Amino acid sequence: MKFIHITDLHLIAPGSPLWGIDAHANMTGCLADIARWHADAEFCIISGDLTDKAEPEAYDWLRRELEILPMPVHLMVGNHDHRQTFRASFPGAMCDAQGFVQGAFDTSAGRFILLDTVKSGSSAGELCEHRMNWLTGELSRAHDKPAWLFMHHPPCDVSIPYMDRIKLDEHEAFAELIANHSNIRHIFFGHVHRAVFVNWNGIACTALPSLCHQIPLNMEATEGKPYSTGPALYGVVLVNDGQTTVHFEHFNERGPAAM
Ligand SMILES: [Fe+2]
Repeated sequence: MKFIHITDLHLIAPGSPLWGIDAHANMTGCLADIARWHADAEFCIISGDLTDKAEPEAYDWLRRELEILPMPVHLMVGNHDHRQTFRASFPGAMCDAQGFVQGAFDTSAGRFILLDTVKSGSSAGELCEHRMNWLTGELSRAHDKPAWLFMHHPPCDVSIPYMDRIKLDEHEAFAELIANHSNIRHIFFGHVHRAVFVNWNGIACTALPSLCHQIPLNMEATEGKPYSTGPALYGVVLVNDGQTTVHFEHFNERGPAAM
């Protein structure tokens, strides 16, 4: 089973760059690359920060561009998004009974659970009591099948103080909750704008670079230039026979032998 992971698009209203980077060109190139080489993926998940300033024009642009993909796309929100503005452009997007942008679905590889970790007015993440209870219920519905979690904010440090200060606030309670569920195979997150692998309490976790600006490993040494311009990537995840493999696709740097 194959699926696609993309994160942190940081789209703005078309017509101007952000941090000197054309995020629209990156997103267009990313989607064309997926449509050409990975049209057999079962679905695609975009794990939040769809936009940088939550402008309606940016969400509308994204909706039009996503039409190129042949597989279902599940959209999540991040701290740069605004739930109501997002939903105005994507009225069919997943949503729970209290209006949080989260949902779950079953596949041949197990149950995928997509969490809304947005905390109003903050760059850090939040899982309030409602969302903790919702997660507990969705994990219970997985029974003994593998569970795969997606969340915008990491539940753990990545050893970058700038990012570690704005991870999931309730990381300790979250760790206690998932410790009771040995069927969690992998946690995918965004927010850190880097390709990162973490083994957190025995659970594999991966994060991907942004499709716009990246976070340098030594944030304190950048002397007023807060973001780097490393390559944008998307993830191709293969789940077969008990093994999970994450490939990082440099779609802007394909040579003549593309595969
Ligand atoms: Fe972001």
